[in-house]
Amino acid sequence: MRGDERGLLDRALEPARRSAYAPGEFIGQESFMSVTEILSLASRAGIGPGVSVLDLCCGVAGPGRLLTRELGCVYLGVDASPGAIEVARQRASGGCRFEAAHVPPVPAGPFDVVLLLETMLAFPDKGPLLKGISSALPVGGRFAFTVEVGEPLSDHERAQMPTADTVWPMPLAEVRSSLERVGLEVRWWEEWTRSHQATASALGKAFATEGEAIRAQLGGRALDRLLAAHGLWSEWLEVGRVRKLAFVAEKTGTARTHGGRVPVARAGTSWPDEQPPPAAARG
Ligand SMILES: C[S@@+](CC[C@H](N)C(=O)[O-])C[C@H]1O[C@@H](n2cnc3c(N)ncnc32)[C@H](O)[C@@H]1O
Repeated sequence: MRGDERGLLDRALEPARRSAYAPGEFIGQESFMSVTEILSLASRAGIGPGVSVLDLCCGVAGPGRLLTRELGCVYLGVDASPGAIEVARQRASGGCRFEAAHVPPVPAGPFDVVLLLETMLAFPDKGPLLKGISSALPVGGRFAFTVEVGEPLSDHERAQMPTADTVWPMPLAEVRSSLERVGLEVRWWEEWTRSHQATASALGKAFATEGEAIRAQLGGRALDRLLAAHGLWSEWLEVGRVRKLAFVAEKTGTARTHGGRVPVARAGTSWPDEQPPPAAARG
């Protein structure tokens, strides 16, 4: 997508997005994360003044601009879309650098922290990506990410979901084994299924409310696809078909082949239950 097209998309959706988030929780993110969640994950990953951060799949870099402004980190955002990078560059002030590139390969680093926000889903084969991320971190470096946890989509689900070629959920056991395989150990996690369900639902309603303006700018097909996708995400998160989890994993330097049972989390760090918690208890 060219810069003018990505800019148009961003401008067309901005009023609906802004109205869907609670006051102060929208800063240009293209995702279900709130500002509070972005800052919480960054803090768990130890992002602060002078910490070098690689933000993979940064989009127009709403989160990246927030983190450099609020936390004073040294930031490089990478995205496959030259248009998104063009918009990000126009909006950013000092402290942010950007590259238009498809990952993997992951930039060599080393970086103190690698972020992958709301985009693990887009990678059908997550192995080469995770290997590259681990290689870009020194021992003690952190990988902070969100992941859509669940079984692969059925043919029926793929037929329902627009851009299903970018929708590859990850079974929970695979999250664990894939991290272990590249020497990353989970230090923190949190369940965000319920909050992201509420955001998906609010975004769907806001796009419907702003439907005529969106249709005029992007066309009817784009609006229909937006509504269909947000309807499905809202439903799948509601019923636990897909869960949303946030993790911080630390590079240990010891990659493990998956043989016997190896605890991935340091003593005291729990691991999410295989079954999602009941709706009322879901975070
Ligand atoms: C859902 S948006 C998330 C943007 C940003 N992380 C955020 O939270 O606001 C996903 C972004 O990932 C980018 N992307 C998808 N696959 C990619 C790949 N293989 N390499 C680089 N960027 C990719 C897309 O261009 C898009 O900008």
